[in-house]
Amino acid sequence: MARIFINYRRQDSEGYVGRLYDHLLRHFEAEQVFMDVDSIPLGVDFVTFLDEAVAQCDVLLAVIGATWAEAADSDGARRLMLEDDFVRIEIESAIRQGKLIVPVLVGGAKMPRSADLPTELHPIMRRNAVELKHAQFAKDVERLAQAIRNLTAVKAPATAAIRAQKETALKAIRSDLIAATDSPLYSLRQENRFFPVLGDGNPDATLLFISEAPGINEAKEGRPFFGQSGMVLNEMLGTIGLTREQVFVTNFVLDYMGEKREPKPAELAYYAPFVERIFDVIRPAVIVAMGGTAMRCLLKRFEQPEANDKISAIHGKLLPVTAPWGGTIHIVPTYHPASVLYSASWKAWLREDFQKLKLFV
Ligand code: URA
Repeated sequence: MARIFINYRRQDSEGYVGRLYDHLLRHFEAEQVFMDVDSIPLGVDFVTFLDEAVAQCDVLLAVIGATWAEAADSDGARRLMLEDDFVRIEIESAIRQGKLIVPVLVGGAKMPRSADLPTELHPIMRRNAVELKHAQFAKDVERLAQAIRNLTAVKAPATAAIRAQKETALKAIRSDLIAATDSPLYSLRQENRFFPVLGDGNPDATLLFISEAPGINEAKEGRPFFGQSGMVLNEMLGTIGLTREQVFVTNFVLDYMGEKREPKPAELAYYAPFVERIFDVIRPAVIVAMGGTAMRCLLKRFEQPEANDKISAIHGKLLPVTAPWGGTIHIVPTYHPASVLYSASWKAWLREDFQKLKLFV
């Protein structure tokens, strides 16, 4: 159930927002739509308070009226440039927390130019906006409500026939992987009687988890995340009420690499068509990239500018991308489960990142 936070500037859009709120209640329950943050208690840090309010929601509607970017305080300073501007604080918080953000244009407003925004708000320029026009308000809000439902949709389960097709398609990929004698890792696999590790789980999973490469335990079993890091992954899935059988788990490299190292470009390139076929069979709503390498590979694959960011900066964010099979899916980078074996605070972050996935469960 998506929870919606309406962010707006009283000066330029109060009337529109009242109307928007009333119309949204035709599509969502009242408990799903938050409009005004109740008064902030005395002595409380308002940034923390607003952060927590934004954290309660899944989608932030940034309502932009005709004077949104220019609105100034009594000293003539542009509010957006002030660090205590609530509109700015809430949007920045939603960006930081990786929330879905939809700019909503009202009163004939246009999307502001990035030159008019503080740098921290630039990411909203890449979010598709919707416009609510006076003459077709009800219709426009209906479109917005549908877009919110699509963005936060839980994937409709496949019919028994489609599920069977998916199982057959995965078996075909597995056979091709077994027969992949020209792989740069094939001789290591043969010499050690290792198995290739295609991945396993639900062929129709909503959530697909992808990491770097199988370890030795995984290669001995032919299953991903079989060792200690697998136990962490299972524990994290448990915190959101999921089991391994409900999700699909795989890697960018599908054979053991023989040592702890980064995958070579040739190895990633070799297995990329297999990974692409796996994506196309599962068609997940969310791809969770576990660890920095997987994050970089996935974001590069989807041509996202965050590909060069550090995982510490973007873990837990929901990044919307267009799926090759159509529609929007989300990428969520997280820390690698093995990393939390060494750090309690990373484990807490991983747990928080998994909470974001609840939206799709
Ligand atoms: N680490 C990975 O990156 N992948 C696995 O399958 C297991 C451990």
